[in-house]
Amino acid sequence: MKSKQQFYTKILENFDRLSHDEIKRVFTQLSNLYNTQLLVAENLEEGVIAINNEEQILFLNKKAMFFLNITQDIEGKNLDECISSDSFAYIIVELSKSKTTIENTILQDKNSGRILQINILPLGHEGRIEGSLILIFDITNLWLQSQKLKRVEQLASLTTVVASVAHEIKNPLGSISIYIQLIEKILNRLEIDKDNSEELHQYCSIVKEEINRLEDTVNSFLFSVRTINLNLEEHDICKIMTNTVTFLQHEIKETNIKIEINSKEEHINMMLDIKYIKQAFINIIQNSIDALKDKKNKNIKINLHKDNSNVFIYILDDGDGIKKSNISKVFEPYFTTKDNGTGLGLTNVMRIIEAHNGTMEISSEQNIGTEVLIKLPIMSMDKRLVSVK
Ligand SMILES: Nc1ncnc2c1ncn2[C@@H]1O[C@H](COP(=O)(O)OP(=O)(O)OP(=O)(O)O)[C@@H](O)[C@H]1O
Ligand SMILES: [Mg+2]
Repeated sequence: MKSKQQFYTKILENFDRLSHDEIKRVFTQLSNLYNTQLLVAENLEEGVIAINNEEQILFLNKKAMFFLNITQDIEGKNLDECISSDSFAYIIVELSKSKTTIENTILQDKNSGRILQINILPLGHEGRIEGSLILIFDITNLWLQSQKLKRVEQLASLTTVVASVAHEIKNPLGSISIYIQLIEKILNRLEIDKDNSEELHQYCSIVKEEINRLEDTVNSFLFSVRTINLNLEEHDICKIMTNTVTFLQHEIKETNIKIEINSKEEHINMMLDIKYIKQAFINIIQNSIDALKDKKNKNIKINLHKDNSNVFIYILDDGDGIKKSNISKVFEPYFTTKDNGTGLGLTNVMRIIEAHNGTMEISSEQNIGTEVLIKLPIMSMDKRLVSVK
């Protein structure tokens, strides 16, 4: 490369003495060189942008245009002029203005959902800094895989601890439950005055309630570590949602929540495990109910729609919302902000959805509300038979 550079410098120095044919040969060489370099740059998986110190664009490849959602040719223009201040690209422009090296900064483009790694390096020539080189890598898949791996690792370490703890708790819990029933029987036989008897029965009820709560917690833990074996059958997911809401009706009415289910289609039949999907819906709606506890207006909206291959289920509430710093933690086992929560509700929902080859996202704004989006692939009985062949 260096020798080529020297060669062209020499040509320039002696340009007046070159014959017409020699000039033509040099231009052909230069044109080939330019085309090769362009070919390489345009086929890179990374977005590449070179800007000078005045922030004029010297070069930008197709991938960079794609990442920054730029549609027209902007070479030679100022980066600022071509990008609106509310776009994702604007953050990169601002970063590049700092004129410092930025390494491996990870940003999420909210519009496309892409997770991008940004590197901004000085663009130097013969010891002088002449601008910046911005490199953009799409690391969405890597990121999602690492999040998944993190969850798998967390669950794996959880498995051993939980299995033994649950075992230790479940057995004595069974005994306590039996003994409290025996105590109640004896109480009925004893001749004690009405007030004392009522008080003792009330204490027994409290102990039984606490036993139930502890049993629920242990069962949640056990659920989160057991392998999910799906029993796939064709069901109408709209009907499952309606039944789930009916199942929770008592709590919904008691807390004065308005709940609405909207679906463009009356029925959406698909292959799923009804027991697990219902459990997933219960966990999500229960979270919404909890988040609406102290709110004046209490609304839960559920929307279902489908395209050719997926069903999309949105569950929205206008409850407390989730703190920005907590959003990434809600799928972690044990993460809870509630006094009585196990922090396993969403962990279990995610396991159920992933077992159905679906995906799940949660977005939220504190004091505004929360939106859960579940995307499940529709596999009807006919399609399954075709693909099984
Ligand atoms: N709709 C929601 N609104 C506000 N916060 C939510 C919502 N859904 C989940 N969260 C937050 O995510 C955390 C984790 O939820 P998850 O369902 O896993 O556990 P939990 O609800 O705390 O416990 P459990 O499900 O055992 O009752 C909650 O503690 C809460 O902070
Ligand atoms: Mg929960």
